[in-house]
Amino acid sequence: MALGKAGRASAAGIVSLIGEDLRQVERFLQAEGEAPVEAITGIARHLYAGGGKRLRPTLLLLSSRLIGDGGASAIRLAAVVELIHTATLVHDDVIDGADTRRGQPSPNVKWGNHTSVLAGDWLYMKAFQIALREANFHVLDLLIAVTQLMVEGELIQLERLGSIEVSENDYLDLVSRKTAALFAACARLGATCAGAGGNEEERLGQYAWNLGMAFQLVDDVLDFTAAEDVLGKPVGSDLKEGKLTLPLIYALEGAAAHERELVAAVLADRSYDRVPFRAVLELAESRGGIRRALSRAEQFAEAARRIIREFPPSPYQQALSTLTTLVIEREY
Ligand code: IPE
Ligand code: IPE
Ligand code: MG
Ligand code: MG
Repeated sequence: MALGKAGRASAAGIVSLIGEDLRQVERFLQAEGEAPVEAITGIARHLYAGGGKRLRPTLLLLSSRLIGDGGASAIRLAAVVELIHTATLVHDDVIDGADTRRGQPSPNVKWGNHTSVLAGDWLYMKAFQIALREANFHVLDLLIAVTQLMVEGELIQLERLGSIEVSENDYLDLVSRKTAALFAACARLGATCAGAGGNEEERLGQYAWNLGMAFQLVDDVLDFTAAEDVLGKPVGSDLKEGKLTLPLIYALEGAAAHERELVAAVLADRSYDRVPFRAVLELAESRGGIRRALSRAEQFAEAARRIIREFPPSPYQQALSTLTTLVIEREY
């Protein structure tokens, strides 16, 4: 789980609540990642060995426990969402031309783009194959809808690559699709497999959507401020990949023409050869972009907290509330 400096004790608390469930998910993932083709098993093992916060299974399991007991379905579905997440990461790194994931060479670097695309497809289908065991159309409906939304998100991002004309609304819509939708689906799946009513499921989904928005906003801030060895991927990647994220969208609002040109140069070159990363970071900081993006993330986290407070008090309700703080305070 995510560990910020202040969050260590609370993260330990969450693990103690659902630790055994998470271990079962892990065993399940190991077993289901075995494929008749070596490259697929290799990529799955490589990514699991690299770590990963298992935030989506955690969210699903806590949501399930909040409502009741999802039993074996919750374990299977927690593995399903981690598989979908893994598949999207494999494809995302191909699209972004990324070289590092979870502190190791990304699959596209180690196995190449062609193999990675196909392994990603296999992982998606493995996820749906496991989900099918629930024999539940609502579960499949949620999973198909979220997968489509994430693909739409990546496509919109692709179309916008290299553009400096990205508004706050454009950005938030993208984040909703590529990240928050999966968070929402995790909570809803956890809720539904524990027998939640439609309204409870909907509210938990809204909680998790806000959590996911906060999570991606913090991710985009960490792309400027994190230590690379802690983050497990290089800083400054977003702009270098052609993506304008919220800290710079805010910073550019009040920026001078020469500052705008700095950003435009990196977007055009897809490198920090002409303009060093340090100059871009300074711009994001001095124009209040980092501070404002973090405060927007905190607003989403607070919205999530408000929703979760409406549920009856329990250790799981407390843990879901703590999760909002961990997401904000995380360092990787
Ligand atoms: C990475 O997600 C992709 C984003 C949505 C930013 P995580 O930061 O949860 O990745 P892992 O699973 O911990 O590596
Ligand atoms: C998040 O996008 C990946 C998905 C949700 C598919 P990013 O491209 O920002 O994530 P990182 O930075 O590569 O982890
Ligand atoms: Mg990426
Ligand atoms: Mg990112």
